[in-house]
Amino acid sequence: MKQTLKKMPINNKRILLRCDFNVPISNGNVLDETKIVKSLETINYLLEHNCKIIIMSHLGRVKTEEDKAKYSLEPVKAVLEKYLNRPIIFAKDILSEETKNIALNLKPQEILLLENTRFLDIPNKLESNINDDTAKAIASLGEIFVLDAFASAHRAHTSVVGIAKYLPNCIGFLFEKELTMLEKCFSNPQKPFTVIMGGAKVDDKLNIIKSLLPKCDNLLVSGGIANSFLSALGLNVGSSLKTEDHNIIEQLKTLMLQNKEKFAFPLDAVVETTFDNVKDPTIKNINRISSNDIIKDIGPKTISKYHEIINNSKTIFINGTMGIYEEKPYKNGTTEIFNALKNSPATTIIGGGDTISALNNLGFANAFENISSGGGATLEYIANGTLPGIEAINEEENIEILDL
Ligand code: 3PG
Repeated sequence: MKQTLKKMPINNKRILLRCDFNVPISNGNVLDETKIVKSLETINYLLEHNCKIIIMSHLGRVKTEEDKAKYSLEPVKAVLEKYLNRPIIFAKDILSEETKNIALNLKPQEILLLENTRFLDIPNKLESNINDDTAKAIASLGEIFVLDAFASAHRAHTSVVGIAKYLPNCIGFLFEKELTMLEKCFSNPQKPFTVIMGGAKVDDKLNIIKSLLPKCDNLLVSGGIANSFLSALGLNVGSSLKTEDHNIIEQLKTLMLQNKEKFAFPLDAVVETTFDNVKDPTIKNINRISSNDIIKDIGPKTISKYHEIINNSKTIFINGTMGIYEEKPYKNGTTEIFNALKNSPATTIIGGGDTISALNNLGFANAFENISSGGGATLEYIANGTLPGIEAINEEENIEILDL
């Protein structure tokens, strides 16, 4: 059992809290607050214990200096202030002396939010590749490290894994709840066990798919992942999103050959000839897609095939949507799959920020009991039985303080 927040001596301490505030943001507004709301229990508990709280999170994929403009955590600060009903101090430069001074002089119940940890990646990947000096520098801001970012626990990053080595540490309430739920559902999943995976890029998910296949009985795919498999099978997916990497395409072919009976692919699709606007959504069989078609949702034959597999499953994990559910003509696939899951007696776990946003958006906000904020994290947990973030945190009895 991992060290938990309830068992830590935290009164009046400076707490370095890693959350996952990787939320959708548009024009400076947070579009889905679920991950932030889920973090409040831990933050409120720290406030009740008069802690000085230093919060950090990543946001988005920061690859260039220009990306920084769209991935600032300032919009998250506003949401936190609204829910916590208090001002929050914001530090733009995590490693500056000024930030350190603010952190070391925080008063009980004051909160400092650090800017996006992935800004440290430009130019030297100080966040994404664990960097010991950076970990030590961030650790020196706090006295105890609380990891509550379950959705980031598959990332062996400085702010998730690196810091834990330098401070007494524990998991927060959200992390603890998610871990307990996943242990219950997946330690010995009832069979047939079905995984439903949507998502844009197969390249990101290839290793997970490889590790998942021996564990599950069915793997249902959609979106760019499905397009890449279909294209590797030799089908024309038109101008739809798919991998162009030949090495990956060869690996997909091998995976399909070795696991024929486990894969389920779309039989038909709702297509358009434009990426941007809704013009003329048309249903086509998957072997009738033309070169200028773009696949935007699964079609009715796919829905009924996926329904049947869902109905015959005893455990189901879904991460991802079936189509571009945000636009009305392409929300049917995702809605129908959620309906099938809702009516299924199987143990069903929904995971990932985008999938939770789709639940909220399509009217399923309260339809499911087992919801995990982790998409990639939960997939990796199912595949490997643990995560770098879980491994980084001390076991219950093992609290030690290292000199910095
Ligand atoms: C997520 O939303 O899945 C996590 O925040 C991880 O984000 P990442 O895939 O950009 O690392």
